[in-house]
Amino acid sequence: MKNLENIPTKSDKISHHGYHRFYERFLAPFVGKNILMLELGYENGYSIELWKKYFEEVRIHSIDISENPNDARIEKYYQIDQSCNEQLENFTKNNLEKYDFIIDDASHVPLHQWETFVRFFEILKDGGIYIIEDVETSFWKQSEIFGYQFNSDEFSLFQKIPKIWEAINQEFIENAEKQVEGFSQEQKTIDQIESVFIGTNCIIFEKKSDKNKHYYRANVDYRHKGFINFKKSEQFKKKSFFSKIFK
Ligand SMILES: C[S@@+](CC[C@H](N)C(=O)[O-])C[C@H]1O[C@@H](n2cnc3c(N)ncnc32)[C@H](O)[C@@H]1O
Repeated sequence: MKNLENIPTKSDKISHHGYHRFYERFLAPFVGKNILMLELGYENGYSIELWKKYFEEVRIHSIDISENPNDARIEKYYQIDQSCNEQLENFTKNNLEKYDFIIDDASHVPLHQWETFVRFFEILKDGGIYIIEDVETSFWKQSEIFGYQFNSDEFSLFQKIPKIWEAINQEFIENAEKQVEGFSQEQKTIDQIESVFIGTNCIIFEKKSDKNKHYYRANVDYRHKGFINFKKSEQFKKKSFFSKIFK
């Protein structure tokens, strides 16, 4: 099996962050396949080399606020400012291709990470994987990174976890208890999440897929009825107690 950890790289994804501990369980099915991925955050292109070596057949699109580095390993490069929602929306509107895998390693500002996710999850293929790296910033108080000032007391990715948890499990929630969110872009995105995995300094989202659509029920009333179960289990206990004594 191909192993991210064994690929020599100058990117800090492995040596410092140890992201391979989490990524391989989601990315291994893409190895050797003709996939299309998008990475936000180019810098020196170190991670481009890592992805090329890991996936082998991958086509890579790259986004950064900096000028085009003219890197032949990248199929398409887009100079986009992740802090500008209008630029993010223009990208999703104009880009007709959908990605198997999107990874956000750009500004690391929690609000940018979230606003990008809300818009870019739509251009991920069904069953695709979306990773947000460096979510440590969601714990930082007054801070600065790449010239952006932020404070996790004002916005943190982890504020969104209860909403995601509820959306993924919505079929088990009584209608009256559901938070009515309307049809915001954010809710539309959250409703497309199949699963979420939280690793050290990263969040991995898996997108729903048509092949699983029979599981996406809005509300099915088959919750276990506590009283009936209680009675059943009492009977069961008695039965097993007596069956042990009078064998
Ligand atoms: C951590 S580096 C990317 C590292 C690279 N992925 C790797 O592993 O080798 C972050 C990059 O995000 C870019 N960046 C910072 N703010 C940005 C913004 N608002 N929009 C897009 N890119 C941004 C920086 O120019 C920098 O190249």
